Amino acid sequence: MELKKLEEHFYGLFGNSELKPRTFFAPGRVNLIGEHTDYNGGFVLPFAIQYGTYLAIRQNADDLVRLTSTNMDFRVEIPLKELSKRVEKQWVNYPLGIFDQFRQANIPLSGFDLLFSGDIPNSAGLSSSASIEMVTAFALNTLIPESHFEMIDMVRMAQRAENEFVGVNCGIMDMFAVGFGRKEHALFLNCMTLEHKHVPIELHGFRLIVGNTNKQRGLADSKYNERVAECQLAVTYLNPVMPVTKLGEISFMQFYKMQEEIPDEVIRRRARHVISENQRVLNSVSSLLKGDILQFGALMNASHESLRDNYEVTGFELDTIVAEAQKINGVVGSRMTGAGFGGCTVSLVREDVADRFIEQVGREYSLKTGLHADFYLTEVSDGVREIV
Ligand code: GLA
Repeated sequence: MELKKLEEHFYGLFGNSELKPRTFFAPGRVNLIGEHTDYNGGFVLPFAIQYGTYLAIRQNADDLVRLTSTNMDFRVEIPLKELSKRVEKQWVNYPLGIFDQFRQANIPLSGFDLLFSGDIPNSAGLSSSASIEMVTAFALNTLIPESHFEMIDMVRMAQRAENEFVGVNCGIMDMFAVGFGRKEHALFLNCMTLEHKHVPIELHGFRLIVGNTNKQRGLADSKYNERVAECQLAVTYLNPVMPVTKLGEISFMQFYKMQEEIPDEVIRRRARHVISENQRVLNSVSSLLKGDILQFGALMNASHESLRDNYEVTGFELDTIVAEAQKINGVVGSRMTGAGFGGCTVSLVREDVADRFIEQVGREYSLKTGLHADFYLTEVSDGVREIV
């Protein structure tokens, strides 16, 4: 993104080129492994990518929050007094949810002009929403003198904004990765305690390639909330034999012994996914630390299988990319990443077959689904920051 252009666009919309806006950036994220474990108090291993959301922002004296984006042709103006109202245009609710969090924390708010510009595809499961939320929170925290939040506070605010304001019962992984991402590292996060470590991603001649199915995610939010509820139900069934509050507290061995306590076969499979996936994250971290790329790839494949068969969040498009990827000699692992029901895959591909991978998987995918897939070679990047 050219900052000069963003600034010019900003002046074109909001005027007064004497007063420069400040510019911030928050990345999107790709989750390496640990899918649908975060809201179960489990482990995740995401990293921040080079794509994300830019925000040019400036205080105004009009008691108005004016928001717009270079990607869309509408603009929203909200008087400060009405900040807690939702607006019909979906993405605006992400920054508005953050303003609402600041208001609830009694941070004095003035008017602001905000111009967003994103280069992550929307609804692709790469956390464009967390990226918008975190860039807004970080910018407000930098610009408002009375605001002194730590990164962890902003991460929590972003999750609350999404849960309460937008209405998706998502976990904390996305905001955490966007806030705490670090170049060339994955973030190993325990979602129960929020302890985290940065694990170096050294790929020894492999690349991480994201494949976007370009499938509209349709019912994703309601299906997502349904899975959250199913996991809670699994906990209720297991409670008489092992009093826990979340599936993440149960080891695979413990689950193996008590799984029959869950009478419903579907709920049992949901729990099996979460609990086995948790173990796969731990194994992945040790594989990465040992530089055992093949072992890590095998864990990625196993994760996809479980998301497909136990958790049932993949679907034809994601399964097709993954199956086609796995056919290629030099691809050691491939899986869906993010919430599922469409969205993206991530594959671990030997550098010298990357071009062939993109060509061949793309061609087979189009033939089988009638859709066009996009591919991105990811760079493991830093978290939210100001651009100076
Ligand atoms: C979405 C949610 C995350 C997480 C993933 C699945 O990205 O926002 O909190 O639950 O799905 O792992």
